[in-house]
Amino acid sequence: MRRVTGKQVVDITAAGYDELVARHQGVVLDVGTGDGKHAYHVARHRPDVLVVGLDAAKDNLRRIAAKAAAKPAKGGLPNLLYVWAGVERLPAELHGITEVHVLMPWGSLLRGMLGSDPTMLRALAAVCVPDAEFLITLNLHAWRPAVPEVGTHPEPTPSSASRDLAPVLAAQGWRLGRADYLDAEEIDALATSWTRRLNSSRDQLDVLALRGVVNPTDVE
Ligand SMILES: C[S@@+](CC[C@H](N)C(=O)[O-])C[C@H]1O[C@@H](n2cnc3c(N)ncnc32)[C@H](O)[C@@H]1O
Repeated sequence: MRRVTGKQVVDITAAGYDELVARHQGVVLDVGTGDGKHAYHVARHRPDVLVVGLDAAKDNLRRIAAKAAAKPAKGGLPNLLYVWAGVERLPAELHGITEVHVLMPWGSLLRGMLGSDPTMLRALAAVCVPDAEFLITLNLHAWRPAVPEVGTHPEPTPSSASRDLAPVLAAQGWRLGRADYLDAEEIDALATSWTRRLNSSRDQLDVLALRGVVNPTDVE
């Protein structure tokens, strides 16, 4: 697995990753981590969990990855890894995910989270433990006007997500528990600079949060 540590990219072996997993109480995977701020925030506030920030683009990760890999006195976090990979080709070493976050997906990641690419949901479910939790936050401005990746999906609302999106997700092992709009405070608490960027250029940022469980064990 290709770990970004700043300008460098180093290889982490399966044994090295397994050892990190064993030292922590769970593993949070932040998919499409962008500049990695959300992953850093989670890792800093939850030292008991390992956080893996994964993105197909490595250049935006360099700055924060260098900080995360530094000594603790300089902001380093031993429970945080930034990994350079697309969800379409997840590293074979990845496993044991107890929580999946997908914040403000765009491009192929947005298509995948809407269920238009079922293999993506399946591939992510395959690296999750039973009853792993998920949080997907959809930037509804992707529908205003609609970007090509949303396809034929109309802009989701809490009720349409439960009605239309839930069965699509469920078919790939993702059980939607609730869907609700986030207020400004909740969006801020996500600690993503992407959100801040959007906030500063728009009057209002509308975000729909989807929460639930991957690989539920109590399926009827
Ligand atoms: C709008 S940014 C959001 C970044 C971050 N989650 C945040 O909220 O600040 C979307 C990110 O998803 C990544 N992405 C899109 N498709 C991806 C894929 N198939 N695999 C991995 N990353 C992907 C992009 O490179 C980009 O960094």
